Amino acid sequence: MTTEPAAERTEGDYVLVLNGPNLNLLGTREPGVYGSTTLAEIVADLEAIALSADPPLEIEHVQSNHEGHLVDAIQTLGPNAAGIIINPGALTHYSIALRDALAAVGTAAIEVHLSNIHAREEFRHHSVVAPVALGQIAGLGPDGYQLALHYLMARCRRSPEAN
Ligand code: DQA
Repeated sequence: MTTEPAAERTEGDYVLVLNGPNLNLLGTREPGVYGSTTLAEIVADLEAIALSADPPLEIEHVQSNHEGHLVDAIQTLGPNAAGIIINPGALTHYSIALRDALAAVGTAAIEVHLSNIHAREEFRHHSVVAPVALGQIAGLGPDGYQLALHYLMARCRRSPEAN
């Protein structure tokens, strides 16, 4: 599943949610590790929370199995977003391109993982994205996305001009 990013958005009225490779398979993919909630359900919950913000926010969601597509989305939709929530999937562990794109746009980004990457295989312990993220939430399942959104909404309330 690839959601094409909208061409133009008004500054600050949306949160960019990015999901990397294989996250389109949530619901059926290794449910013992990633749970049974689908990506569509995760995004629908985020949309409901974002609408409750004052003023309401929208969710711009992009899932892609392709690194370059995610880089494009960060470049086009990142600069005007109120914040970015990103689960880079396996790209977490090696995509300097994704890290550089996030650093280039400079928009506040929260890295989210459904599983606790620090309690899994050694190769998952390191994130090349984490140093350019505001913070990381790992191991809390779909709630991690919601917590990240609540944080970004609170951050916008505190300083609406920051992103
Ligand atoms: C993941 C963890 C990554 O190590 C893995 O490659 C994924 C999902 C998570 O959400 O727990 O695809 O990002």
